Amino acid sequence: MRNKVIAGNWKMNKVLSEAEKFVQEVVDKDPTGQGVEAIVCAPFPFLAPLVEQTKGTSVKIGAQNMHYAKNGAFTGEVSPVMLKDLGVTHVVIGHSERREYFAETDETVNKKAHAAFEHDLTPIVCVGETLDQREANETMNHIETQVREGLKDLTDAQIAETIVAYEPIWAIGTGKTASSSDANEVCGHIRNVIEKMTSTETANQVVIQYGGSVKPANVDELLTQSDIDGALVGGASLEAESFIQLVEAGK
Ligand code: G3P
Repeated sequence: MRNKVIAGNWKMNKVLSEAEKFVQEVVDKDPTGQGVEAIVCAPFPFLAPLVEQTKGTSVKIGAQNMHYAKNGAFTGEVSPVMLKDLGVTHVVIGHSERREYFAETDETVNKKAHAAFEHDLTPIVCVGETLDQREANETMNHIETQVREGLKDLTDAQIAETIVAYEPIWAIGTGKTASSSDANEVCGHIRNVIEKMTSTETANQVVIQYGGSVKPANVDELLTQSDIDGALVGGASLEAESFIQLVEAGK
């Protein structure tokens, strides 16, 4: 049985006092249960204090990006060594906003996925199609390419540990959610691609999240789908109350 993994992606929102207040509410409520994980992917400046605040609790802290190099002349960047040293457990890689605005490619996604495993961080690798690609019936091919290139040359054991987030770009922040069956169809396709790359056993271990306008009102239906093991949530993860409800839905 795969765990249900609910991750909040705050993107570029909040100041530290708001972040700490949010995390305290979640920690006090402790909405996780057996087989349910909660991860808060916060902006870099909040990571150290939030890791401190969540020590000994069930809430994990993730980053929203990182460089693939250990260190070096990369002004403004943050390395996997730095994240690991702070106690961060997860890192979002290849979010569509990073692909669109910061020139992230399948090649850099792949380098970052390798770097994450070298430093014992769990990557949340994002894939997803544009509206044009969906309308041109290119979704499945596009997703297959992103999965194959993004996870290239990882070992089967590393792929089994990877979280893949399917986020159709047209559903992000738009209020338009993919129907649960459409979302499940693509998540099932991702699992099939991984099965072809590895084995049935490995593919069955991979946690696949759906992301795109997930909220308390639609999360139950999404999480009951056979190939959807969790959610990567933007807008609805900004309020503690709704994040808590999303995590509770995983039980
Ligand atoms: O990574 C989460 C994401 O891009 C979805 O955002 O606001 O549609 O939940 P949102």
